[in-house]
Amino acid sequence: MEQARLAKMNVAELSEAEAQAELARLAAEIAAHDRLYYAEDKPSISDADYDALRQRNAAIEARFPGLKRSDSPSERVGAVPSGRFAKVRHAVPMLSLDNAFSDDDVGEFVARIRRFLGLGTDEDVALTAEPKIDGLSASLRYENRRLVIGATRGDGAVGEDVTANLKTIGDIPKTLPDAAPDVIEVRGEVYLTHAAFAALNEEQEAQGKATYVNPRNTAAGSLRQLDAAITASRPLKFFAYAWGEMSAMPAETQMGMVEALAAWGFAVNPLMQRFKTVDEALGHYREIESQRALLGYDIDGVVYKVDDLALQNRLGFVSRHPRWAIAHKFPAEKATTVLEGIDIQVGRTGALTPVAKLKPVTVGGVVVANATLHNEDYIKGLGRDGEPIRDAGKDFRIGDTVTIERAGDVIPKVLDVDLSRRPKGAKPYDFPTICPECGSEAVREHNPKTGRLDAVRRCTGGLICPAQAAQRLKHFVARDAFDIDGLGAKQVEAFYRDGLVAHPSDIFTLAARDARLQTKLQDREGWGETSAANLFAAIDERRTIALNRFIYGLGIRHVGEGTAKLLARHFGTFEAFAEAARAAADRESDVWAELIGIDGIGDTAAEAIAQFFAEDHNRQEIDRLLAEVTPQEAEQAAADTPVAGKIVVFTGSLEQMTRDEAKAMAERLGAKVSGSVSAKTDLVVAGPGAGSKLKKAAELGVEVIDENGWFALIGG
Ligand code: IVH
Repeated sequence: MEQARLAKMNVAELSEAEAQAELARLAAEIAAHDRLYYAEDKPSISDADYDALRQRNAAIEARFPGLKRSDSPSERVGAVPSGRFAKVRHAVPMLSLDNAFSDDDVGEFVARIRRFLGLGTDEDVALTAEPKIDGLSASLRYENRRLVIGATRGDGAVGEDVTANLKTIGDIPKTLPDAAPDVIEVRGEVYLTHAAFAALNEEQEAQGKATYVNPRNTAAGSLRQLDAAITASRPLKFFAYAWGEMSAMPAETQMGMVEALAAWGFAVNPLMQRFKTVDEALGHYREIESQRALLGYDIDGVVYKVDDLALQNRLGFVSRHPRWAIAHKFPAEKATTVLEGIDIQVGRTGALTPVAKLKPVTVGGVVVANATLHNEDYIKGLGRDGEPIRDAGKDFRIGDTVTIERAGDVIPKVLDVDLSRRPKGAKPYDFPTICPECGSEAVREHNPKTGRLDAVRRCTGGLICPAQAAQRLKHFVARDAFDIDGLGAKQVEAFYRDGLVAHPSDIFTLAARDARLQTKLQDREGWGETSAANLFAAIDERRTIALNRFIYGLGIRHVGEGTAKLLARHFGTFEAFAEAARAAADRESDVWAELIGIDGIGDTAAEAIAQFFAEDHNRQEIDRLLAEVTPQEAEQAAADTPVAGKIVVFTGSLEQMTRDEAKAMAERLGAKVSGSVSAKTDLVVAGPGAGSKLKKAAELGVEVIDENGWFALIGG
């Protein structure tokens, strides 16, 4: 009772004794959630609720620093058992930058800004220019001038809590002066200097250990150590250059903000400068480029930012990039070496990818031994349209002397060949037509849209190819497919690796087989009696499943979630679909015509469906699955609703429903939901922040309504 009352109280109103009790409760509760999340992979609360608990804990600690517990969640780096970090949702997403590769690209960037803001060509847009540090970004949250959470970027929305590790970095202040606002999030780059990197590698060598590849990866590895003592032993550094949430703004310009960060004790880059014109900023790019080798740390370009924050606000973002900033990358670095062999890797979708095995060579400080050769035609010296590339279509042969290029993080490429150094008797490369993983035929599909062969050769082994099997299994358990509680990508991959599950149908025989095993699931690391029993129950729950999920789960190429729904709705039962899919092998048949006649299903998907069902091993696996699982009959689409048969696009942020909900609702009512606006679109439902789609709808004269209009229309 008492605990429940405390949990609801405002942090500012807690007495010291109450705060102590509340910190104890939070420590226990957060630890319990960590266990569920990490060890059992079964979180019982949302990320947002979890973050709220951590933030409450941090806020109480900030108010009563003396009460901080030795087992405080804010000190604990992730949940130790499974060796991972806790997740942190960024209050303001961490975005990335668009790239420019030439002066013209930068000119276009400024022209775009002028057009967007409606400025004349004679009006200057002041820009800052600073080095783009080649490290990894981090976000530091200070509440009441104390560092409470430090996180990696992660996917931009959710990062990893590496607070304890970031606290070991000397450039990062743990507390801020009184002048700093109550809540600030400082963002910047964690990096390693060349000197520190060299010293680390000397140490590694002296101990007979493998050396590190480059400063950036080493910095990233150092920051993501579960033991903060290891991070502390690596002399990481930090430059502050951006911010997230701010309870008050100390300046109105980018330059002013960075000066404030410096005044609060952050290290900022000394080469940052402000310029009135783009030409001056480009001059600074060249200046920085000329100093690059002398800086003592890696940079891979120059970042330009609009200086005026009011303009930044007006400019906003396009997808995940701010419109007001761009990274001007330095040109790629090249080297010459020998092509010693070509490996064929089989990717997740069965694509056969040629990888060049090179005589190791250093490119821009990194040793490169592998590089991409793209595809069969690229090796032959042919481009996308079959046209000769590399002069008169020079091909690559084993033993050739080749030029390779490495740009930043990108996988190195083989660019060109020196024919004068080709060894005598070198033969053109024969690209395999048999999958090296499973021995099935590997084919280049005919693309009916372009009338050409696909650039990629693919293995037809599907479910039996080991290179594809793990990926197929992950797809099978994905959220829009079977979505089995407690059996995520990670678990199913581990089961595959350990030989417990090879095909999707094996998932449904797991419990029966487990009963006969010596070492049972519950004896495996990370599992217990309850979690194993829960998993078997969750699997059983999926023995009946919506038809569209079943079809999507099969992982037929070109059959995404939307296509699976169309198929389910059209055929109603799996038997009807399978019969049609088998008969569609005959392109002259009525069934083929029926398949491509379904609104929204094109030749490519129909072709892939027919091919999938033409493979014996796929049909056998389907039979095994059907022995375990019953796909339900699909609901027929409603025909008498105001939106039946209409093509609807949702855009902008929806406030009363999630995207998934909106989509499901519209489809239930017989509408088709599309991701883009075209002349065929009947209706656009736009929430706040809608951008290009709204503009397109206006151009095309498509009806636009808001969320309330939508509910009024469907009578909800
Ligand atoms: S500004 C909203 N400034 O580059 C824009 N980023 O490719 C925030 N980076 O994720 C980024 N040096 O990790 C900015 N001086 C700099 C940078 C910089 C390095 C990194 C950062 C970002 C990535 C984008």
